[in-house]
Amino acid sequence: MKKMKSRIASICLALCLAALMAGCAGVEKKEEKTGIKIGVAIYRGDDAFISSLCASLENAVKDKEEKLGKKVVVNIADAKNSQSSQNDQVDDFISKGYDAICVNMVDRTVAAVIVDKAKEAGIPIIFFNREPVEEDMAIWDQTYYVGTDAREAGKLEGQIVADAWKSQESRIDKNGDGKLQYVMLEGEQVHQDSLIRTEYSVKTILNEGIVTEKLASGTGNWMRSPAYELMQEWIGQYGSEIEVVLSNNDEMAMGAIEALEENGMSGGNGPIVVGIDGTEDGLEKIIKGEMAGTVMNDARGQAESILGIACACAEGEDPKQEVPELKGQYVRVPHAPVTADNVQEFIDYKNK
Ligand code: GAL
Ligand code: CA
Repeated sequence: MKKMKSRIASICLALCLAALMAGCAGVEKKEEKTGIKIGVAIYRGDDAFISSLCASLENAVKDKEEKLGKKVVVNIADAKNSQSSQNDQVDDFISKGYDAICVNMVDRTVAAVIVDKAKEAGIPIIFFNREPVEEDMAIWDQTYYVGTDAREAGKLEGQIVADAWKSQESRIDKNGDGKLQYVMLEGEQVHQDSLIRTEYSVKTILNEGIVTEKLASGTGNWMRSPAYELMQEWIGQYGSEIEVVLSNNDEMAMGAIEALEENGMSGGNGPIVVGIDGTEDGLEKIIKGEMAGTVMNDARGQAESILGIACACAEGEDPKQEVPELKGQYVRVPHAPVTADNVQEFIDYKNK
């Protein structure tokens, strides 16, 4: 009898333990569901602007968690400039049941593959920074794009140059011929922003009644070291004839400044340099007087919009309520011109 009792007791114990364990697993599952999982696929992690955007995303997550009262996990995958790796990374996010996927395409012309897969899985997709073509955006209404207006960036960059020329023509017009001799550093040729920024920066200078002469242009693929190489070459070829360096972004402007420094042509001694992005390094060069200006490409604003849309979609809510800047499927975060006069304001904004 005693034996029987103890057997029943141990069976009960086993059952209780099993129930408890099942209960725990249940709780765990529930907890997972009450959190949001967002996959972010970036084209390359060594791109200065993209890495600052990722840092802003991570910062924005903390606020979001507080606001929603739940865990928000952001997992960032670096495609290292390979579209096929990026497709695999997106597949992985889909198979793991992420709630929203954000994609910075390596090749912006092949977004349809990703939209099709996301649509089939019912996972909303937010493209950013590298804009898919309209046909691909039209495949599914739960596809969004967060970026900027490249024309605006180009215009503001051109305006910085035009204003500088007008207020310090005698300093900038080194050869005194009344014409602005410039070199142009371009971003990736496949990127929607490169050609437009180039076109509108020059157009704006011309519209201000300034006569320009292009000495040279070339692509530095958004990166510092190819821009440095190009600038060295141009300095060798044109030397002090170069009056303005127009760059499609700050990283390439940094490469140009490095080359100018090595040739004793930086700051007041050489051409003025302007960029786009407002990276930390860019803002610092403005403070030091080595760069005349830049155009703020608001990584923080873009990160907040990306996360706002992703979380709203994950929660099954209308993203327009959360991100009022969303027009149709698009958010275009405004730019702002930055010069020595207002640079501190932007340093403060970034550090907030
Ligand atoms: C641009 C930015 C560049 C580069 C590029 C990558 O908007 O100005 O610096 O980051 O995106 O797609
Ligand atoms: Ca001149």
